[in-house]
Amino acid sequence: MKKEFQEKLDYLTKLMSDALKNSKHSFRIFSFGTSHNSRPNVRTVVLRDFNFKNQTFDCHSDIRSPKIKELSDNNLIEAMFYCPDNKVQARISGKAKVLHENQETMSRWNTLTESSKRCYMGPYSPSDKLESYHPNIPEDFQFKNPTKKESEIGFKNFVVIRINFDKIDYLELKYSGHKRIQFNFANKEVSSNWIAP
Ligand SMILES: Cc1cc2nc3c(=O)[nH]c(=O)nc-3n(C[C@H](O)[C@H](O)[C@H](O)COP(=O)(O)O)c2cc1C
Repeated sequence: MKKEFQEKLDYLTKLMSDALKNSKHSFRIFSFGTSHNSRPNVRTVVLRDFNFKNQTFDCHSDIRSPKIKELSDNNLIEAMFYCPDNKVQARISGKAKVLHENQETMSRWNTLTESSKRCYMGPYSPSDKLESYHPNIPEDFQFKNPTKKESEIGFKNFVVIRINFDKIDYLELKYSGHKRIQFNFANKEVSSNWIAP
């Protein structure tokens, strides 16, 4: 691979790794696009893991949310990251799989704070129509955290969405000329080429 292409890929990996350490980093959240019955659906999610070697990255979700059903019908996704400090956009596409109630989701669940676990304890499925306002966390825990034991009921709703990516569209904006590179990952081989910005 051309030296400059490799440098950009290394830079992107560094942005991901920085985002995992720093919750204020712009790459910490990304837009996650699915499609359902030929209609696009995009929402914000939090980056929870990135593994360049395995070509995967993760976010967490609630199994009851509509995006999980959408992914079971069509697992092709696109994720969009943008860092305004350096004007870098990465559009990453691939296939998503949903991990639920296994060893891996259990060890990930154990890394969540009790406060975050409250999001998986709500009585309603995310996106359910409500007759009146409800925060969708149990009343007892609206203003205090559950204990580890009390939060266990949320585990059945917790999923890790793992994206296996096969394409990255990297764009960097600059006055002297924008730079755009497409990376394709097929059978662990990476091919790359310039594309028009
Ligand atoms: C800053 C921010 C971070 C979010 N992080 C997540 C997340 O990590 N996982 C998630 O399922 N929803 C997250 N959400 C909520 C989603 O954007 C979305 O509203 C919800 O998941 C329902 O999506 P769906 O109806 O398409 O399934 C986040 C929202 C915001 C504003």
